[in-house]
Amino acid sequence: MTPIPVLRPDMPSADELLPYLRRIDQAQQYANFGPLCLELERRLAAGCAGQADQPVALTTVANCTVGLQLALMASVDRPRVKVLVPSLTFPGTVSGILQAGFEPVLADVDTTRWVLTPEIARAAMNRVRGIRAIMPVAAFGGALDAAGWDRLTEETGVPVVIDAAGAFGNQPIGRHTVVAFSMHATKALGAGEGGFVVARDPDVVARVRRLSNFGYMSAGGLISDIGVNGKMSEYAAAVGLAALDRWPEISAARRRLMTTYLNALADACPEIVVQERPVGGVYSLGVVRLPDRLRAETAAEYLASRGIGSRRWYCPGIYAHPAFLSLTQADDHVVVKHLDQHLLGLPFHLQMSLADIERVTGALQSVLALGARGRTGVAKATRSSGPRGSHLRAVV
Ligand SMILES: Cc1ncc(COP(=O)(O)O)c(C=O)c1O
Repeated sequence: MTPIPVLRPDMPSADELLPYLRRIDQAQQYANFGPLCLELERRLAAGCAGQADQPVALTTVANCTVGLQLALMASVDRPRVKVLVPSLTFPGTVSGILQAGFEPVLADVDTTRWVLTPEIARAAMNRVRGIRAIMPVAAFGGALDAAGWDRLTEETGVPVVIDAAGAFGNQPIGRHTVVAFSMHATKALGAGEGGFVVARDPDVVARVRRLSNFGYMSAGGLISDIGVNGKMSEYAAAVGLAALDRWPEISAARRRLMTTYLNALADACPEIVVQERPVGGVYSLGVVRLPDRLRAETAAEYLASRGIGSRRWYCPGIYAHPAFLSLTQADDHVVVKHLDQHLLGLPFHLQMSLADIERVTGALQSVLALGARGRTGVAKATRSSGPRGSHLRAVV
């Protein structure tokens, strides 16, 4: 049985990189916003501009986590303020807030979109005093409602920095929102490690750029703010440019993969729920919500016994990690606590064949059928098919 891994990065080949690497050899500039970095920024900005009249400003960073940190520092001019953040996210979101010197306040997410919404944020701000910034997360690449977040900023004056790590190609840039993207190898547009921060306000982006370069006001000049080294190297920019060359083809292939997967899931396992998000997006993960009677842990073990990888991305929620136990909580995270038990990332990558997708949906169909028969059925079936079956937990 050939294993099906949960994720396979899809990066440019050495041949595709070569023309860019030769340009680095020629220019002999390896860092500090060299020519490749500037070209990457121009091309990414064109891709992020959308339909709005106002252009976007964009700066590359070493990774999205540092981009989030610097975007917050550039957006909030008071020290140690509270920043509202959903507890269903990658730990880097919260690390970015803490590294910026601010205090994360954890909130629940919406039941169908699995994200922090302006409505949840308004309720949290009424309960917890002193929230002066918000960092919603485009969970699993699903675009957030930028216009809704703009309205919240206009009403309250509270800046919003969107963590759109995995949402390049999907997340629009609002009038006021500052948006950080990741170019980690696992994302649809990868540079190995990398990221970029985009906003309509050129001053905020200029500040992020300064902060990513130690706070220098100009080359070799004076330091205006205490920054970090968060710059992208020319080598990462080379990979990013080669990835952008393939973007039309790769994004179309990812859209097709998602459509095929959703159809196969709907046919084989209509009980399985997918995230409510704009259709036609470019996604790098295939996360589903299992029905209440089947825990993600159980399904993951069953899939593993059939050579199928899976991952419980973002689970458990941030509130459950030892490092974050002391953080303020704006609510009881009822939705996240439920999703914790039932979200499962299925194999989702461009090397999957239709037969692979059918193997995954077929295995899910079997575990659901066994679950319907009760916990003994699942335990027995998995034990007989692999050595890890004996560790199975109950089907709820
Ligand atoms: C929601 C979210 N935020 C932040 C990050 C961190 O991005 P990076 O690895 O570029 O720092 C990730 C990475 O997967 C993520 O999923």
